Amino acid sequence: SGTDLGVVAGLLRDVPDFPTPGIRFWDLSALLADGAGLAATTRLLAASAGAGEHAVDVVVGIEARGFLLGAAVAHALGVGVVAVRKQGKLPVVAARRSYELEYGSATLELPADVLRPGERALLVDDVLATGGTAAAASELVEGAGAEVAAISMVLELPALGGRARLGDRPVHTLLAR
Ligand code: PRP
Ligand code: MG
Repeated sequence: SGTDLGVVAGLLRDVPDFPTPGIRFWDLSALLADGAGLAATTRLLAASAGAGEHAVDVVVGIEARGFLLGAAVAHALGVGVVAVRKQGKLPVVAARRSYELEYGSATLELPADVLRPGERALLVDDVLATGGTAAAASELVEGAGAEVAAISMVLELPALGGRARLGDRPVHTLLAR
């Protein structure tokens, strides 16, 4: 609802020059720490999951900030959550994918034997910046034979062009800055 969106917008914080000079860091700490804020965010992100035959089977949360949102959205939808993790954390890995970030580079890993072929996954994260993170996570999901039903994020930074990196996958963001 419009009220939910107002609550989310009012609790977003931005910090100049973090983690490096020239980067504006969007911080969801205050939003997640607020009960009404977390509830509003969860409702809005869950709304981008389809219903009926288009319903999602599982949520995929991207380390680290996508974990908090991903678990909340999965619980709201009554489905499970899969943690796509930064390299070296998972004991058994289905696949890994490296990508460039706005600052630095990173590798994501998908745990083995949790996504089934044909499953419809909702990818959840906090911020869509260059799209490298979401593209890598999407490729991991698709590499396992599952489908990215939608990608759902709180905040989009359109100047960084992330949406174009995600091709035809449905992308839903609550706010743009
Ligand atoms: C941030 C943010 C997104 C990603 C967006 O995560 O949480 O996951 O960057 O950037 P992109 O669209 O340019 O890929 P970060 O890798 O900084 O780490 P964290 O979530 O573990 O804090
Ligand atoms: Mg992140």
